[in-house]
Amino acid sequence: MKKVKIAILGLGTVGSGVYKLLERRKQEMPSKAGVEIEIAKILVRNLEKAEKKVGRELLTDDWREIVEDESISVIIEVMGGMEPACTIIMEAFRAGKHVVSANKDLIASRGKELLEAAKDNGCDFLFEAAVAGGIPILRPMKQCLAGNEISDIMGIFNGTTNFILTKMTDDGMEFEDALRVAKELGYAEADPTADVEGYDAGRKVAILASIAFHSRVVFEDVYTEGISKINAKDIQYAKELGCDIKLLGVAKNTDNGIEARVHPMLIPSGHPLASVKDAFNAVFVHGDAVDDAMFYGRGAGEMPTASAIVGDVIDILRDIEWGCCGRIGCSCYRELPVKAIGD
Ligand code: NAP
Ligand code: HSE
Repeated sequence: MKKVKIAILGLGTVGSGVYKLLERRKQEMPSKAGVEIEIAKILVRNLEKAEKKVGRELLTDDWREIVEDESISVIIEVMGGMEPACTIIMEAFRAGKHVVSANKDLIASRGKELLEAAKDNGCDFLFEAAVAGGIPILRPMKQCLAGNEISDIMGIFNGTTNFILTKMTDDGMEFEDALRVAKELGYAEADPTADVEGYDAGRKVAILASIAFHSRVVFEDVYTEGISKINAKDIQYAKELGCDIKLLGVAKNTDNGIEARVHPMLIPSGHPLASVKDAFNAVFVHGDAVDDAMFYGRGAGEMPTASAIVGDVIDILRDIEWGCCGRIGCSCYRELPVKAIGD
């Protein structure tokens, strides 16, 4: 049976989860995907720190070693940030490798270029984990809901801020204490400013709106306002009004163009989104045929994020063994007409 070699870029919260989950599923890969797998290399900066998690022989701090290894077919990018992640992924496509990424920063700004590079080189580029962590939302949008004209998306897209707001509302915790716990639990970004200022949710809204509305929405198109100014008094006033404060992301496809924004909102305590607690996310979608659909689950953390990534990897493995599919990034993919913001 064919053996597919996989490399992982990064062994932090998500990389460690991906490593564990691939090892857990390894024996089932022949029946799930028609191939055997081997984790061949893992890229890190700090070799000593990573040696506490995996064998030294698996580790490298030189990304070229991975991209130039012709025996590696699939690369999982979970290192984060714009560079060198972007350069490595581009080089990986040039070398004919398929890529799975969780990097919303990169995809929300340079997703189009990356998808084009993947297509030009006959490679897959999948990134289900980049929006709403473990919740399947990008593939349902591209496939199951493809028969709809999607007009509205609204939801909780950031686990860290939802965790902080939940702890402030339900347990009277201070903002800084709740953020510290969110970091310890692996929910927050390396620089949590992206979480608390709404940038992370804005990136997810940009990616999802691009796919839902067959458009190009980039992070800079999304109005963002975070929760750093929310204090105990705001939470108290909201309670007196029978409301909760949630950081919501909204995208609408209107006759005047696309509207995309992230900001704190008051929602009635009986609203379904008010019951979304801790690091859970929820996404409402309205389509002309399906009417309302709601997606709910863990939006951050080691294993939920690994779940989405390993799902993408298995999809690619099935392609390698069994043929083509029509997905974005695949050489058989046909582009839909693109509508610009403000059209
Ligand atoms: P993390 O814990 O900070 O881990 C990052 C890993 O990448 C570390 O192992 C780090 O190595 C390595 N790395 C970073 N820059 C590197 C470089 N230039 N060269 C070599 N190695 C490098 O981050 P994370 O939380 O796992 O997140 C990873 C990605 O997943 C990010 O794009 C994030 O936005 C996305 N994501 C995270 C979550 C979540 O819940 N955490 C959910 C969905 C998506 P060293 O430790 O040696 O520096
Ligand atoms: N920092 C992100 C969050 C990770 O808290 O939602 C998941 O994308």
